[in-house]
Amino acid sequence: MKKLVLVGSTGVIGSKVVELMKADYEIVTVNRTSGDYQLDMSDANAVEEMFKKIGSFDALISTSGYGKWGSIDEHSIQDYHDGLNSKLMGQVNLVVIGRKYANEGASFAVSTGILAQYPVEGGISLGMINAGLEAFVRGASLEMKNMTINSVSPSFAKETMELMGMDSSTGVPAIEFAKLYKNAVEEGKSGDIYYAS
Ligand SMILES: NC(=O)c1ccc[n+]([C@@H]2O[C@H](COP(=O)([O-])OP(=O)(O)OC[C@H]3O[C@@H](n4cnc5c(N)ncnc54)[C@H](OP(=O)(O)O)[C@@H]3O)[C@@H](O)[C@H]2O)c1
Repeated sequence: MKKLVLVGSTGVIGSKVVELMKADYEIVTVNRTSGDYQLDMSDANAVEEMFKKIGSFDALISTSGYGKWGSIDEHSIQDYHDGLNSKLMGQVNLVVIGRKYANEGASFAVSTGILAQYPVEGGISLGMINAGLEAFVRGASLEMKNMTINSVSPSFAKETMELMGMDSSTGVPAIEFAKLYKNAVEEGKSGDIYYAS
């Protein structure tokens, strides 16, 4: 059975990835506070130690990372750095360090989001992070010749809108995003951004 490292397995989207992929993969779960391995992915040393213990693997999916939601007036400079360290550099760490341990032909999928292309008020940090990470994915795909790397760009999950107390009628069920991550690691493409239709 292929080995999948899933970072963010307890989240709204990650838990659906588990549901969808557990029959076909041995899933190694990684989160900050639970799972087979617990770490903050922004800590490169901790990420390296984790991969040493996991050993070789066939696929990595990240459905994780923090960025502040709030207006420009509500953002301190530190808030931007916190998001860059977590959602952007955390996922870059998983790819750059993980590829040294991954099997030939391995596939990676990281999480961005539609704020990269479609800004809304309050989404300034996340839009910046998502756009930066998408540029990383495109660039890395040119050089990771024996592996694939893609990103999945969710819009708003129905379940997340419900958790936030919003009207969720325009939300996309998280299982639909989970299918995109599965496709992203199985289809053999690289440098692509997967969107929900
Ligand atoms: N849900 C949406 O509507 C939506 C929309 C657009 C983009 N996205 C993106 O999709 C991804 C998944 O979103 P989600 O809503 O499913 O997230 P979520 O429900 O908040 O869950 C996040 C998951 O990632 C783990 N995690 C968070 N920060 C981590 C870190 N620094 N190191 C290791 N693990 C970490 C959490 O573990 P712990 O609980 O143990 O901390 C949790 O399992 C995120 O990148 C998010 O920005 C989501």
